[in-house]
Amino acid sequence: MKVLVTGGTGYIGSHTCVELIQNGYEVVIVDNLYNSSREVLKRIETITGVLPKFYEADIRDREAMKTIFEENDIDSVIHFAGLKAVGESVSKPLEYYDNNIYGTLVLLEEMRAHNVNKIVFSSSATVYGDPKEVPIPETAELHTTNPYGTTKLYIEQILRDAAHANPELRVCLLRYFNPIGAHPSGLIGETPNGIPNNLLPYIAQVATGQRDYLRVWGNDYNTVDGTGVRDYIHVVDLAHGHLLALHYLDEHEGVETFNLGRGVGYSVLEVKNAFERNSRVKIPYQICPRRDGDIAECYADTTKARELLHFKAQYDIDDMCRDSWNFASKNPDGIK
Ligand code: NAD
Ligand code: UD1
Repeated sequence: MKVLVTGGTGYIGSHTCVELIQNGYEVVIVDNLYNSSREVLKRIETITGVLPKFYEADIRDREAMKTIFEENDIDSVIHFAGLKAVGESVSKPLEYYDNNIYGTLVLLEEMRAHNVNKIVFSSSATVYGDPKEVPIPETAELHTTNPYGTTKLYIEQILRDAAHANPELRVCLLRYFNPIGAHPSGLIGETPNGIPNNLLPYIAQVATGQRDYLRVWGNDYNTVDGTGVRDYIHVVDLAHGHLLALHYLDEHEGVETFNLGRGVGYSVLEVKNAFERNSRVKIPYQICPRRDGDIAECYADTTKARELLHFKAQYDIDDMCRDSWNFASKNPDGIK
């Protein structure tokens, strides 16, 4: 079975390619290398023994996408390609709508033209906005606070409408919670550009000496220790979720939405402590004012993914911190 993976040299995409190859799928990657490097392909080969077929192209490039579908007998698509920085999306909304939404439209049109009818899409828990209750079920109200989140919400709707118009089209919308960690080999992982916004990449850069200390954004939330609580999930578990989503699409018609998280929340200080335990590196920190747009608590109701996808995360917070540190310490300058 051939799977087209858009954004396949990125953080989650590369781990998913490893999972797919190790489970007998043939992988074709399209990525414009905007936020990743060609070297990732060699690393995937080192881990799996297989060098995936690669097209350096933008998914908005219709001719390139047409060629990819013509040259390969694609069975299904996993769609990761997109821009993902929340703050940047506020200052560059048009770029985010163009890249994420227009890119998805071109992909869907080329899928239709080539009769490819299964797609798994990377959505995000960001579509729940500030949730009314935790754990958050898939049926919770949807609401976004920034253009990045709005692209996810719109793409979900576009996919629902496309499937409504074409009953052959099968769609899995996967709402990721907070992916962290790295492949246990330390060969692939997250390589943020510039100053990281997300917690784990920032902590890892404090640990490698690239940043002085962790700024903890607020300790006056109504949580276990006042700091923000999130549902961290190991990227290898998340990658496995995509395999299960493909299996699900083989058996089921229509559109289904799943939360992918562990259903357990950890506070910022709990994550910092777990990182220290697993790296044996002290992480100095200072409590700072709350970050704009942050919420107190966010974790998944995982019932649906467990019952329908048979998804169960294998890795805990110690595994996640250990593997994040293993990757960061081996690749302090990212993957070049
Ligand atoms: P990433 O930036 O590491 O990977 C995305 C890849 O897409 C990159 O390799 C980039 O070069 C490529 N890309 C971007 N625009 C493209 C285009 N127009 N054409 C071709 N390639 C393009 O990001 P990631 O963390 O692996 O995230 C993958 C997906 O999951 C994204 O859609 C993201 O919004 C979503 N997501 C990520 C998180 C997270 O915390 N990492 C959480 C929820 C959802
Ligand atoms: C952020 C995005 C969200 C996206 C998610 C995963 C914002 C407002 N939200 O969410 O849309 O889906 O990443 O990519 O950017 N923290 C610190 N110090 C830091 C970094 C983070 O204290 O230097 C805290 C945050 O306040 C939060 C927790 O750590 O409580 C996790 O932060 P982060 O990794 O940025 O993820 P989210 O806030 O969940």
